[in-house]
Amino acid sequence: EFHKEPKDVSFAHDGAFGKWDKAQLQRGYQVYKEVCAACHSLKFVAFRDLADLGYNEDEVKALAAEWTVPGIDQDTGEAITRPGTPIDYFPSPYPNDIAAAAGNNNAIPPDLSLMTKARPNGTAYLYSLLTGYGEPSEELKAKYPDFSTPPGLSFNEYFPNLNLAMAQPIVIDDQVSYADGTSATVDQMAKDVTAFLTWTAEPSLVDRKQTGWPVLGFLLFATILAYFSKKQIWSAVK
Ligand code: HEM
Repeated sequence: EFHKEPKDVSFAHDGAFGKWDKAQLQRGYQVYKEVCAACHSLKFVAFRDLADLGYNEDEVKALAAEWTVPGIDQDTGEAITRPGTPIDYFPSPYPNDIAAAAGNNNAIPPDLSLMTKARPNGTAYLYSLLTGYGEPSEELKAKYPDFSTPPGLSFNEYFPNLNLAMAQPIVIDDQVSYADGTSATVDQMAKDVTAFLTWTAEPSLVDRKQTGWPVLGFLLFATILAYFSKKQIWSAVK
């Protein structure tokens, strides 16, 4: 195993007081839609879930309608495609795995819904993978002189196999144009889509952390109560 450990990268949702940066999640959604969705599905996420990112009902409807999803013609029963509605889930870009593999050097682009949970240190890993394309280090070449990257694959020192079937997806600054005026550097886009995919994998992350504080408050209160009860109960015993 010669791959590198993920880079240190920090996010607004880190730590016990962490909160989602909703503007960042919205930008990350845009990167997913404009870049990743060409190859990767997000099958466990429904358009209505985008409300979490700070969109209102009408905005969610409009966002859903920008996608094309598989449907059924109500009159003929035939399979059709139609614009998405809030209750639909993100569609797959390929009709089936064979088409997916055929388009990608025989590798099927995995669903990204749970990716940051599926890999160790997944959030940092994803960011590192997206920003980790390049050439093998001298150290690696010295140790493994026969190492090479076959045609059609790309070298990435954060990928466990070092060579992967995904070419660098975020390549140039301003690959997307952000509506909020944030400068769309490669690094920024990688961070934003990583934050978004951390949210898809655990939308309740921030709620889960915040649940802990009232619990601690209650336990403190219960401890004080127990202390005074104990004093009261044993006060007659000298
Ligand atoms: C694999 C993320 C865009 C094709 C992956 C993996 C992740 C990922 C996390 C799995 C790596 C692993 O197994 O550890 C993304 C993100 C994208 C993006 C966040 C957008 C910024 C694309 C695009 C394509 C693509 C546009 C197709 C042109 C693939 C393929 C694999 C893959 C074929 C399988 C690679 C292999 O196992 O060798 N991607 N991807 N991805 N992706 Fe992407």
